[in-house]
Amino acid sequence: MPGSRFSKRWFAAAAGFLLGGLALVISSCSSVQRTVVVPPHIPGATFVGNQACYECHTNYSHAFQGSVHFRVQADIEKLPGGTSCESCHGPGSRHAEAPRERAQFIINPRKDPKACFDCHQDVHLQFRLPSHHPVTEGILNCVQCHDPHGREIFKPAGGLGMARLNEQCSSCHKEQARTYVFEHEAMREGCVSCHQPHGSINSKLLTERDANLCLKCHAQVQSGAGEVWIGKTDHRSLLSLGSCWSAGCHTAVHGSNFQPKLLY
Ligand code: HEC
Ligand code: HEC
Ligand code: HEC
Ligand code: HEC
Ligand code: HEC
Ligand code: HEC
Ligand code: HEC
Repeated sequence: MPGSRFSKRWFAAAAGFLLGGLALVISSCSSVQRTVVVPPHIPGATFVGNQACYECHTNYSHAFQGSVHFRVQADIEKLPGGTSCESCHGPGSRHAEAPRERAQFIINPRKDPKACFDCHQDVHLQFRLPSHHPVTEGILNCVQCHDPHGREIFKPAGGLGMARLNEQCSSCHKEQARTYVFEHEAMREGCVSCHQPHGSINSKLLTERDANLCLKCHAQVQSGAGEVWIGKTDHRSLLSLGSCWSAGCHTAVHGSNFQPKLLY
């Protein structure tokens, strides 16, 4: 649903603007300028522009031009090459003067995602939900799933969208992503067809807490006789037992080596 995702972001951007302070202006492909949020602060430092960063970090200049974040600018004053590097790393003048004392004078969002949350406030909220990947706890970080500098923000780069997202999850969750004798075809649509990548109000990062998780793909057909058909089985008495994947039902929801109905 690109439409709703867009408006969610727009809302986040507007909310950021209302928080006030020094504003960053985003110029996207479209000519619409969107104002977001306060850039990171480093005491005593001023913005120097991307060109200054490229002088020492030469390997960043090329691929970064294809990044979504290349278009993000701190519209404080016009600086050579724009100010997109510093919109994540903070103003770089003190770091550029004394790069060896780096930790002190430049922000590294791998260690602290606050810089990302400043702009992506909706994502911050997702990581506060009861079930979430432990990013705010410092166990995982954004960079394990996103590439901040490359052409492709979603890791791993290349390949087809969903297959690629499964690959991303599989690098840590091998058990769920392995091949099974009885495959659940839902897996072809990607882990994110059932799980939220950041956080969820439902346990195990699930997008839905109950049978609706499954019913969005498996139609439920009611007959005149009061039967409730899902697939080739009357589920009338079964649906009251609990969620489809508990209570001895489809517990092998990711796939089974023993049972085509994914019972175990
Ligand atoms: C005068 C050269 C120079 C300039 C200019 C410069 N850097 Fe650096 N930067 C370095 C050096 C040297 C290191 C340390 C590399 C190392 O020891 O591995 C470094 C490290 C970093 C780190 C890693 C910090 C950490 O603690 O992990 C970041 C992030 C960084 N620079 C960003 C920038 C940004 C953004 C700019 C532009 C605003 C910039 N640098 C400008 C030389 C420079
Ligand atoms: C979207 C936010 C974002 C933008 C924009 C961004 N960076 Fe980074 N940068 C990060 C994150 C996150 C890390 C940590 C990456 C990692 O450890 O793999 C990082 C790490 C670095 C490092 C340290 C790499 C290391 O191996 O320790 C340097 C140097 C750096 N960035 C320079 C730049 C330069 C130069 C630019 C602009 C051309 C830039 N960054 C733009 C988020 C950003
Ligand atoms: C200064 C504001 C700003 C900062 C800081 C920032 N972003 Fe972004 N980010 C944006 C904007 C603007 C977009 C483009 C949104 C759009 O196209 O509507 C974006 C896009 C993205 C996307 C792609 C969204 C999509 O659907 O294609 C990801 C993923 C992302 N950012 C992650 C990060 C991470 C991780 C960090 C921290 C390392 C970070 N961002 C820091 C402003 C920011
Ligand atoms: C476990 C992997 C993972 C981690 C960790 C992660 N992301 Fe994501 N992120 C994803 C996936 C997968 C998507 C695509 C979701 C989709 O297409 O439905 C996504 C989408 C996004 C988007 C665009 C969609 C949206 O919800 O606005 C942004 C922005 C984003 N991530 C930012 C971040 C930031 C910032 C962090 C760190 C604080 C982070 N992500 C950590 C996997 C991750
Ligand atoms: C970089 C490693 C990494 C990646 C990539 C990753 N995860 Fe995770 N995942 C974790 C860690 C660590 C936990 C927390 C485990 C814990 O708390 O026991 C977790 C927890 C989970 C849980 C909840 C488990 C529970 O018992 O509550 C689910 C579901 C999950 N991840 C799904 C995904 C999906 C879907 C993706 C891809 C979008 C993904 N993960 C990508 C490391 C990762
Ligand atoms: C058809 C929906 C669906 C798809 C697709 C799906 N999952 Fe799950 N996943 C679930 C359900 C339901 C649970 C909860 C199982 C439970 O509580 O017993 C779960 C639980 C998990 C857990 C927690 C550990 C466990 O087994 O209880 C992890 C980790 C996980 N899934 C990872 C993934 C990964 C990685 C992918 C993609 C390769 C994926 N899931 C695809 C529905 C799905
Ligand atoms: C993204 C879509 C999707 C979701 C969500 C989904 N499934 Fe499936 N499932 C399929 C497809 C496609 C098939 C194979 C075609 C069929 O049998 O309908 C399948 C097959 C099955 C089968 C085997 C049917 C048979 O007779 O062999 C079972 C059992 C099953 N799913 C249970 C579940 C459960 C339980 C959930 C919720 C946790 C779920 N599915 C969620 C798409 C999905």
